[in-house]
Amino acid sequence: MWQWLKKWWKVISSPAKYLSLGLLTLGGFIAGVIFWGAFNTGMEFTNTETFCVSCHEDNVYQEIQGTIHFTNRTGVRAICSDCHVPHNWTDKMARKMQASKEVWAWLTGSISTPEKFEARRLHMAQREWNRMKVNDSLECRNCHEFSYMDFTQQSQRAMTQHSSSLADGSKTCIDCHKGIAHQLPDMKGVEGF
Ligand code: HEC
Ligand code: HEC
Ligand code: HEC
Ligand code: HEC
Repeated sequence: MWQWLKKWWKVISSPAKYLSLGLLTLGGFIAGVIFWGAFNTGMEFTNTETFCVSCHEDNVYQEIQGTIHFTNRTGVRAICSDCHVPHNWTDKMARKMQASKEVWAWLTGSISTPEKFEARRLHMAQREWNRMKVNDSLECRNCHEFSYMDFTQQSQRAMTQHSSSLADGSKTCIDCHKGIAHQLPDMKGVEGF
């Protein structure tokens, strides 16, 4: 028994001597694939609505159900991560790291009651608006593209606005479409409202 253990200990403690480099590389590669697979599965799961709703059930999830991005004539919809999680890998990672702070906020109950949620809402909304302003409403544009819009089929108001903002490019979707999926926060004192 001791002999056997000793033998294996030697193998484990100085692997390169006993195992060929090729085998080690292969082992490392397989471990990498497994890790990467598990990692990506985890990443995918954290993009599901089920995941987001597990914490946001009592606040935003209630309201979104009546909106165009939840039910509409054609049955195509947007889920939380479509609007809130970037597709680009680096940005996605950055957002996920940021989101780990949400777990902490959850544990400390920063939005655990409707009152607390409302009190924090403007602050949270402004962070999302800033994010979308900076990335030129990239998430909206993943689905809606000005160049494919048939302005002539839009309402007069939409047509006028869209062709003007198209022309000067100073405005982005979120400048005009705040509160598209959720009720607006209490906007008292906010510039422009
Ligand atoms: C573990 C619970 C939990 C999960 C899961 C969760 N959130 Fe949150 N989320 C929170 C808490 C708590 C806050 C409030 C953070 C604060 O007080 O700063 C928050 C805030 C937010 C905000 C405001 C952002 C900001 O910068 O203030 C957005 C947007 C958001 N969550 C979207 C999502 C989306 C989309 C998902 C799924 C991909 C998700 N959340 C999953 C707990 C969670
Ligand atoms: C995952 C795809 C997707 C994303 C992301 C998305 N939308 Fe939409 N949007 C849709 C679909 C689908 C409809 C409904 C089309 C229909 O009428 O059948 C829609 C409808 C709309 C409408 C029409 C509202 C109405 O009452 O007629 C507006 C405005 C809109 N979206 C703005 C936005 C903005 C602003 C964003 C970014 C914050 C955004 N969308 C993100 C897919 C998306
Ligand atoms: C300068 C302001 C402005 C900008 C910028 C803007 N919109 Fe609009 N949009 C409007 C107005 C106003 C309407 C009409 C709303 C209504 O009639 O209720 C509208 C309507 C829409 C509709 C519904 C069209 C219809 O007739 O059914 C969609 C979809 C939409 N916008 C998407 C977008 C997207 C995506 C972007 C960014 C690429 C964007 N908008 C940028 C002002 C704007
Ligand atoms: C069509 C795009 C879209 C979808 C889908 C969407 N959001 Fe949002 N969300 C926004 C925008 C834009 C804001 C910034 C505030 C605003 O304009 O209402 C926001 C703000 C928030 C906030 C900050 C508090 C607030 O109400 O302003 C939270 C939390 C949040 N979203 C969570 C979610 C969760 C969870 C889901 C899925 C159940 C979801 N969102 C689906 C676009 C979206």
